[in-house]
Amino acid sequence: MSALTVDGLHKSGGDREPLVAVTAYDYTFARLADEAGVDILLVGDSLGMVVQGEATTLPVTLDHMVYHTRCVSRGRSRALVVADLPFRAYKASPAQALDSAARLMAEGGCEMVKLEGGRPMVETVAFLQERDIPVMGHLGLTPQSVHQLGGYRVQGRSPDQAAALVEEAMDLERAGARALVLEAVPREVARRVTESVDIPVIGIGAGPDCDGQVLVLQDALGLFEGLQPRFAKRYMDGAGAVRDALGGFCREVRSGAFPADEHSFE
Ligand code: KIV
Ligand code: NA
Repeated sequence: MSALTVDGLHKSGGDREPLVAVTAYDYTFARLADEAGVDILLVGDSLGMVVQGEATTLPVTLDHMVYHTRCVSRGRSRALVVADLPFRAYKASPAQALDSAARLMAEGGCEMVKLEGGRPMVETVAFLQERDIPVMGHLGLTPQSVHQLGGYRVQGRSPDQAAALVEEAMDLERAGARALVLEAVPREVARRVTESVDIPVIGIGAGPDCDGQVLVLQDALGLFEGLQPRFAKRYMDGAGAVRDALGGFCREVRSGAFPADEHSFE
C-alpha cells in the first residue's frame, strides 16, 4: 500500500473501506501500528493522561507535542501523521494557531493538525487552511473543554444540541477542514453529521456510521487502567501481559535463572 496523503482521506461507503486511526506517541508503537495497516497515526494530546499521568489533557504543552510528533513521524512509513494542537497553543488567535501548527509540521513532521471546537474555531481553520496547513476538526466531547462541559460525558443528546453539531460540522467543512473527529455522541447524531459533510468523519464513541474509527492506543491494547469509557474496546489484555512478562523477569533475576549462559559473554 502506498503512503496515505491528506488528499487520500475519503468518505467510506461503496468500495471505500472505513479509515482506521489510532493514537501514537512514540517510535516503537508508531512503527507497529503502521505495519499493522493503520491509516492514521494521531499524536493525541491524550498523551497528557496515558503517557504523563495527568488527570486531563490541559497541561500538555506545544513542546511536548512537537517532541512526540517527531518520535511518531520517525516510525511511520505509510500512515498519515496528525498532531493535536494542545490547549494553550491555538485558542488565543489564528496567528497563534499558525505558529503552533507550523512547529508541529516543520519540527514534528506531521502532515495535518487537529484542533477542538466548532463555531469559535471557524476563522482559525480558514486561516490555517489558506496558509497550507491541513486541519482536522474535533466536535462532540472535546476533552480540552472538560471543565466547561462539567465532565467527560456524551454530547448532542438533545435535538438542539444535535442540530448544532450538524451545523458546526458544515461550518468547519466550509472553512476548509479536511476531516473531522466526532467523539462521544449518539450513533444517530453521528450518522446525521457524517451524511451532512463531504469530508471524512472519524468517530470515537460515535457508533458505526462514521467514515472511520479512532481509538487511544493504550485503550486498544488494554494497557491503560484509568478512565475506561464504554467505547474503548480492548483488543488485548496489555496490562496483564506486561505484568506477567515483567513478573517473570523479577522471578528469574531473584532465583538466579537469568542471565543464563546464552545471555553472558565468555
Ligand atoms: O487526544 C486524543 O487521543 C484524541 C482522540 C481520542 C481523537 O483527540
Ligand atoms: Na486530543
